[in-house]
Amino acid sequence: MNRSELERVARAMVVKGKGLLAADESSGTIKRRFDVIKLDSTEEHRRSYREMLFTAPGAAEFLSGVILFDETIRQKTRDGVPFPDYLAQHGVIPGIKVDAGAKPLAAFPGETITEGLDGLRERLGEYRKLGARFAKWRAVIDIEEGIPTPFAVHANAHALARYAALCQEQDIVPIVEPEVLMDGAHSIERCEEVTGEVLEEVFGQLFEHRIHLEGMVLKPNMVISGKKAANRAPPEQVAQATVRCLKRHVPPAVPGIAFLSGGQSPEEATLHLSLMNQLGALPWSLTFSYGRALQDTALKGWGGTPAGFAAGQKELAKRARLNGLATLGRYQAALESQAA
Ligand code: 13P
Repeated sequence: MNRSELERVARAMVVKGKGLLAADESSGTIKRRFDVIKLDSTEEHRRSYREMLFTAPGAAEFLSGVILFDETIRQKTRDGVPFPDYLAQHGVIPGIKVDAGAKPLAAFPGETITEGLDGLRERLGEYRKLGARFAKWRAVIDIEEGIPTPFAVHANAHALARYAALCQEQDIVPIVEPEVLMDGAHSIERCEEVTGEVLEEVFGQLFEHRIHLEGMVLKPNMVISGKKAANRAPPEQVAQATVRCLKRHVPPAVPGIAFLSGGQSPEEATLHLSLMNQLGALPWSLTFSYGRALQDTALKGWGGTPAGFAAGQKELAKRARLNGLATLGRYQAALESQAA
């Protein structure tokens, strides 16, 4: 393990003013996204969509890295430049999703365990050769009556820690992503309680697995009301509860926290991040690693047509810029109406 290299990459991933673009949708997920714009999920459509995103003028200066999917890390621009090389040439660090998805956890109805540890060492070695300098593994925790169980939280935290240890062994920075879903009607208080329990277990396992904390990035959910909750907590409360929960559970040795958007609207995700960054000095950098909140408007602007290419790129550049401002606590809703 090359600790100083891991630390350098982890710090670059969470540098102020920038964040991560999660463009690592699996085949099933990208098909659902394309369904919205009535586009077939062919390999060429997926390639040209990702090219539209990665080559968007004005976006790279606000992107520290991009998370790729196995298919995408092997694809090229129209001009024949492999995507990871293109990104690296533009100062954007290529990363790779390495989990094999959340599968039903046997004997625990309604709960999942994320798979993908078998053969992971060899896959990480290959991804590093292809240019990846960080990886992502997502554990999924749902909130329902009697769920999550402590066992499911433990099993997922254990798998996350095994993944993180293998990454660091291969000189790849692990993004550790325990996502507490915002589906359902639960309160923000319940989300804070569950997120706290999950983070406590995750950092306990990371410690036992001898993870070098300075060489990782945490990717958590925000502490937020369920989407179907009757009275959803206002943005200021989300910001305060999230930072309080993180302060209680995330060691200051971790260089940065890059949030997922999890189904928040693009504007909501940007506002929440900016408000958190206004809460005074924090021990870690707080930034974004958004999928939908960066891509939704770009996908619609593109619409799957060559004519929409530039419009999609403008939308991505706009969201990247506004989220870049949010990492500095300088976003205001009024900026939304300015030209893309
Ligand atoms: P969302 O921001 O759409 O939640 O996606 C982020 C991600 O990478 C989930 O694993």
